[in-house]
Amino acid sequence: MKIIPYGKQYISELDIQAVVSVLQEDFLTQGPKVKEFEDKFASYIGSQYAVAVSNGTAALHLSALALGVREGSRVITSPITFTSSANCIRFCGGSIEFCDIDPNTNCLDINAVRTKLESATKGTYQGIIPVDFAGYAVDMEAFRKLASEYDMWILEDSCHAPGGFFNAQDGSQQNCGNGMFADAAIFSFHPVKHIACGEGGMITTNDPNIYNKLLLLRSHGITKDPNALTKNDGAWYYEMQSLGYNYRMPDLLCALGISQLDRAQEGLKIRREIAKNYLKAFSSLPVTISKSSLHPGHAFHLFVIQVDERKALYDYLKENGISAQIHYIPVHKQPYYVELYGEQVFKHAEAYYERCLSIPMYPSLSSNDQTYVIETIVQFYKQNHV
Ligand SMILES: Cc1ncc(COP(=O)(O)O)c(C=O)c1O
Repeated sequence: MKIIPYGKQYISELDIQAVVSVLQEDFLTQGPKVKEFEDKFASYIGSQYAVAVSNGTAALHLSALALGVREGSRVITSPITFTSSANCIRFCGGSIEFCDIDPNTNCLDINAVRTKLESATKGTYQGIIPVDFAGYAVDMEAFRKLASEYDMWILEDSCHAPGGFFNAQDGSQQNCGNGMFADAAIFSFHPVKHIACGEGGMITTNDPNIYNKLLLLRSHGITKDPNALTKNDGAWYYEMQSLGYNYRMPDLLCALGISQLDRAQEGLKIRREIAKNYLKAFSSLPVTISKSSLHPGHAFHLFVIQVDERKALYDYLKENGISAQIHYIPVHKQPYYVELYGEQVFKHAEAYYERCLSIPMYPSLSSNDQTYVIETIVQFYKQNHV
């Protein structure tokens, strides 16, 4: 039986040619495609700087280090995200604090964060990691205002939202990760994401200090820059100036990223069309769709519906060749975090988890396949007489 997944990459002939041509050149890693990809990505997003790294998790880890996270740091994030958004703080020895989501957006609730900050002395928390969950652009201007009151930094997890935007107070469109409000933002190029490279990630920022730290940390903490060396023994000379990693993204994958980026706008347009079709088709079914899906800046990495009979519908779709997914099991419920912090309750996150289901959403989803997904869901409700 053909399986329709919830997300899928699209590789064109041009993508293949882009990779093959790197194979025929001199560099497999750390060649000219890295900077080219970074520059193109920065201009797509509207940030000043971009740093390509090996995946989204590495992007979070390096950003946390560059923002100064260390033992004793306390950082706030949403429980409805992929585990990496929280884990990056643990990698640096810091502690992660969850706040509940806003049920209207399924993203970190700014009011819950404000209440948490008000109940502690200033300086208790160092940073906030809002997540543009499913592709909905969080109002980063509002978070900036709050974070600034408490001298905190913001790391925006924009893995789901390259090309997504929110409207600022002055009416302007502000792209996710453009560095206007957050200190840094991160993206992933995992196959189901908007730009698929197999593995890959990007950090965007407008802060030159963060940018320079990231460049150093990405490649073993080593520099060859004559202006940064403490001495210079000759043209071969390099220095390891901090404890860095090998989190580099190879030329091969950057070439694929450049080619994918050329189609990113087109993919975004198709995702928004698919969302429109779903919204229309489900309007008379007992299916909840977050109001955030109506925002024109939504980037629709995922299309999430919420239903009472979630398990039955998941199983029914699976029996009919449709592989839906659950995004996400709340991170504070993961055994690692329960062992670390004990049982915690975030009622909106938990209520959301009980009902959420991500149904197929990707630019190469054919209109026949989308119609089949819709008809299968309609059929489920007919059979179940809900
Ligand atoms: C919200 C979010 N943050 C972080 C990551 C981590 O990205 P990667 O899988 O590239 O390490 C992902 C990807 O799965 C994600 O969806």
